[in-house]
Amino acid sequence: MNRILIGAQWGDEGKGKVIDLLSADSDVIVRYQGGNNAGHTVRLENRKFVLHLIPSGILQRGKVCIIGNGVVVDPNALIDEIETLEARGVRVYGRLFVSEQAHMIFPYHSLIDSLREESISKSEMIGTTKRGIGPCYADKMSRVGIRVGDLRYPDYFKERLGQVLREKNDVLKKIYNHAGLSFEGILKDYRRYARKILPLTIDTGLYLHEACRKGKDILFEGAQGTFLDVDHGTYPFVTSSNATVGGAITGSGISPTMIDRVVGVVKAYTTRVGEGPFPTEFPSRLMMQIQKKGEEFGATTGRPRRCGWFDAVLARKAVRLNGLDEMAVMKLDVLSGLKELKIAVAYRFRGQLLKNFPHSIYALSQCKPVYQTMPGWQEDITHVRRWKHLPEKAKKYLKRLEALLETEIKIVSVGSERNQTIHV
Ligand code: GDP
Ligand code: IMO
Ligand code: MG
Repeated sequence: MNRILIGAQWGDEGKGKVIDLLSADSDVIVRYQGGNNAGHTVRLENRKFVLHLIPSGILQRGKVCIIGNGVVVDPNALIDEIETLEARGVRVYGRLFVSEQAHMIFPYHSLIDSLREESISKSEMIGTTKRGIGPCYADKMSRVGIRVGDLRYPDYFKERLGQVLREKNDVLKKIYNHAGLSFEGILKDYRRYARKILPLTIDTGLYLHEACRKGKDILFEGAQGTFLDVDHGTYPFVTSSNATVGGAITGSGISPTMIDRVVGVVKAYTTRVGEGPFPTEFPSRLMMQIQKKGEEFGATTGRPRRCGWFDAVLARKAVRLNGLDEMAVMKLDVLSGLKELKIAVAYRFRGQLLKNFPHSIYALSQCKPVYQTMPGWQEDITHVRRWKHLPEKAKKYLKRLEALLETEIKIVSVGSERNQTIHV
């Protein structure tokens, strides 16, 4: 069975944990968009792994992992991640393959990402991860990107880098008053990276096609989340790739007819990192309480995540856009001990009732959630492993989410460890 796993909110839903679970019965795990802006956490018997570029399936022994053409690859970050995993006893070589068509992140991308964020006003700031993601995707679309496969032809690579860097140094000098970057320095570094990365490159689209024909099970690991999608998210407070289901197709070079199921991951509440409107955001006391209990600090940048109530208006849009067949609800344990829980079931906008998530962030920032309030449960549920042992009020909360989203919940997560999971 071939499955796509999608974050149904603003990222950090707990995709890493679900990928690890679903990888057990998959043969190949594929990242298809985003880059090392992602941070996917997997906890195994008190060992914590945070994956940024390498699919989280790497932690399941013997699985093949692919970085598809839609991913933007920072080669330095990739080598670092491979070496860190190998040093911790995770075999990566021989199991990880990288698309020749994936675009590479260069130092000018991350530098421009940072300088731009620092030079604009607070209201314009996206709050990016400063990993160079946006500038790299912009270059891809402007047709001035350089791809992993270009490293194979040193003369061509050198010529291309020279052309691109001339323009980037102009931008750095004229717009940002920066001295610019050294051509020789970048060339030397990328020649060094080439020696480590070229042996991993293959035609990943062809590989996936053939794996499929042989009956292998493929799992597509989405990064970020539906509302960070460049087309369907809260633009411009989004990332620069398609985090919704279509990204898996273009970003890995496979056909939609190969896909059997789409799995959505939601947190039992909502979080977002960075700027942008967030209708159900908690008031500050509750925010601090949940941030602390849920350890809501970014896996990539360490920034505190903004937290809020579950937003069914938003999640319903994710169900529709991605055609979710089933859902995993994460971090239910974090809600234990609250007297009551709220779920946004609609928005009020200029006196009107909205049932659908608006496209404009201008409108969204004026929306007030209409809440349904439900009683909370007080029990610690981190040791629960079966649906029937969940407190009645927790079951009711989950059943309400299921009804609002018209999608079956198949996994309920009550802790970060692999075994703190209820299969429904
Ligand atoms: P991802 O980007 O979607 O993979 O999510 P992150 O790894 O960035 O953030 C999810 C965080 O929640 C990680 O620290 C996980 O270890 C943790 N986590 C996942 N599931 C649960 C859960 O059910 N309960 C608790 N308390 N933590 C969880
Ligand atoms: P995972 O895969 C949460 C957010 C950033 C910022 C916006 C744009 O771990 O769920 P970028 O650096 O991509 O240009 O930043 O997107 N963002 C994420 N938020 N989880 C992520 O990934 C994210 N990747 C990017 O905080 O608001
Ligand atoms: Mg994350």
